Amino acid sequence: MSSLINKVAVVTGGGRGIGQEIARSLAAQGAKVAVVSRSASSCGKAADEINAAFPGSATAYAVDVADHAAVQELAKTIGEDLGTVNILVNNAGITRDGLLMRMKEEDWDTVLDTNLKGAFNTVKAFMRVLMKAEDPRIINIASVIGLIGNAGQANYSASKAGLIGFTKAVARELAGRKVTCNAVAPGFITTDMTDELSDAIKEAVVAKIPLGVFGETKDIAEVVTFLASPAARYITGQVIAVDGGMTM
Ligand code: NAI
Repeated sequence: MSSLINKVAVVTGGGRGIGQEIARSLAAQGAKVAVVSRSASSCGKAADEINAAFPGSATAYAVDVADHAAVQELAKTIGEDLGTVNILVNNAGITRDGLLMRMKEEDWDTVLDTNLKGAFNTVKAFMRVLMKAEDPRIINIASVIGLIGNAGQANYSASKAGLIGFTKAVARELAGRKVTCNAVAPGFITTDMTDELSDAIKEAVVAKIPLGVFGETKDIAEVVTFLASPAARYITGQVIAVDGGMTM
């Protein structure tokens, strides 16, 4: 795989789980990585772990991606600290599950604000810089649930389907400036998010996965790192499902 030496990457939701693994994988290829998450302690800890393996590669930033003004400020700070950003990974995401009958307006708004508006906020904040950067990339972490829906996740499904539409629109809009924009749609991956599922639900999910197991964070990070690399320059507007065959 091509190296990411001299590249600067921003990974939202980098404090744990899939985002932390993506940040680590980009750092392993030589990128300087801004690890962004809501809580200072989680992104700080993630950056420390990455720096222990790849010294000087990670810097932590505590920002809520749903906060438009704070994300604008973040872009300025990262520019001053790390230089021109080449790679933006929109990974921050949350769930507030519940059947529609019981779903509160706040459950809808919070999920849409983080998962969808969060990506709008970061793309708005970083697009000017990306348009001038070498090998510019935007990679959005969607979900298979955005493709096939899921009972009890109307808010989450809508946010991820919206993110897929956003990905394609951004890909078309920024193609003239050689910025590629793709989505990765993970299936069920072992993280804190899926640890919340009951054993009965986990068993039912596994029965629907042709490869027969949950994926690992590394499975997503490898694909993101490829999309971030110069080797992926001719891929844009795509949704790559990494789901053990669940949605084939
Ligand atoms: P996680 O819950 O383990 O980690 C999410 C990270 O995002 C945390 O570091 C958290 O602090 C951060 N975050 C949440 N809201 C934020 C906000 N408003 N601003 C900044 N940071 C925020 O989640 P996981 O499992 O690692 O998921 C990562 C992404 O992958 C999410 O977008 C999720 O929807 C997506 N995904 C996960 C799947 C899974 O099976 N774990 C399956 C499909 C998609």
